[in-house]
Amino acid sequence: MTKKIVLLAGDGVGPEVAGAAHRVLMAIAAKQGLSLTVDEKLFGGAAIDATGAPYPEETAQACGSADAVFLGAVGGPKWDDGGPRPEQGLLDLRQHLGVFANLRPITMMPGMEARSPLKDDVVRNVDILIVRELNGGIYYGDRVEGEENASDLCAYSRGEVERVARIAFEAAKGRRGRLASVDKANVLATSRLWRKAVTALGKAEFGDIALDHVLVDAMAMKLITTPSSFDVILTENMFGDILSDEASVLTGSIGLAPSASLGDGPGLYEPIHGSAPDIAGQAKANPVGAILSAAMMLRYSLDAPEGADAIELAVQGALQSGCGTPDIGGTLTTDEMTEEIISRFS
Ligand code: NAD
Ligand code: IPM
Ligand code: MN
Repeated sequence: MTKKIVLLAGDGVGPEVAGAAHRVLMAIAAKQGLSLTVDEKLFGGAAIDATGAPYPEETAQACGSADAVFLGAVGGPKWDDGGPRPEQGLLDLRQHLGVFANLRPITMMPGMEARSPLKDDVVRNVDILIVRELNGGIYYGDRVEGEENASDLCAYSRGEVERVARIAFEAAKGRRGRLASVDKANVLATSRLWRKAVTALGKAEFGDIALDHVLVDAMAMKLITTPSSFDVILTENMFGDILSDEASVLTGSIGLAPSASLGDGPGLYEPIHGSAPDIAGQAKANPVGAILSAAMMLRYSLDAPEGADAIELAVQGALQSGCGTPDIGGTLTTDEMTEEIISRFS
């Protein structure tokens, strides 16, 4: 049956990397006989300019009835000075789709260590899966914004913690059996609930998984000193946002990092980086994070794991043979890197 993808290109480098992922998807579909339709919709700053809203009703309807949604990136200085924000559209989209578990794999490909800003020995064998809670916490609590005072409420229920923790434990089961849960339980009430809920779930259902609790400040340090000691890292929404940008550069660039956001409905797939206004329109954006997000989409939402394998193999081949965009020390443009990857499909 034909699978329906909604593509939200967004702003800045969003359309550049989403276009790359689109081309890769079409190429793999042709190669493997997959039946896909890709329907482009307005989103983010581009949607604000056209309709006044970052997540227009027509876009929301299409996303709600898709098999999967693919997003480039949103935001930029144009929409930073009052008025509706593109980023609010992204929060609304994630809430609308109910994608509470955001998977952000950070994997060092053998032979690529020299592209990391850290020493080869430190980053060798890094293979981390960050599971970030995506539908709760400070991103979604009551916000008060005045001229003299402002507040953002961070709230979690036990159920919200358990459902994402279950995904992380299950992932650890299929990997190296280790889970590090990150919180700030020495200060925050939400973190103490988080720790209790994760501990109880581990005891009740995942006795074979080695569970550790790590305070978020220490985790920020350990990700740099001993990144290869981690398997699955589970954390709440904002800590996960920050730690995943930090972890992404272990492999050389944030432009390499993909993500999948999963819930009960359509999955959402996006590179973890933003709209990169500093390089937008210059053909410098690394398309790999977006292309690997498309691979995750084939695997988790479109029932096409062979397509995902083929894309991941082609990306690995291209990177290991020295091809890359400027952020990883290469000389290729976004389009040239994309074509290099497509040319490797066997
Ligand atoms: P950013 O991720 O856009 O850029 C940070 C740095 O990484 C920049 O130097 C940029 O050039 C570089 N970079 C990012 N993606 C790259 C790629 N594919 N290839 C090469 N280099 C890349 O973060 P920022 O500058 O803090 O934010 C810019 C805008 O993006 C803001 O409006 C922010 O809200 C938005 N944002 C959106 C998303 C999203 O749509 N998912 C994610 C993060 C930030
Ligand atoms: C990300 C981004 C978003 C987030 C912003 C743009 C809302 O930084 O996807 O990591 O904080 O979740
Ligand atoms: Mn982020």
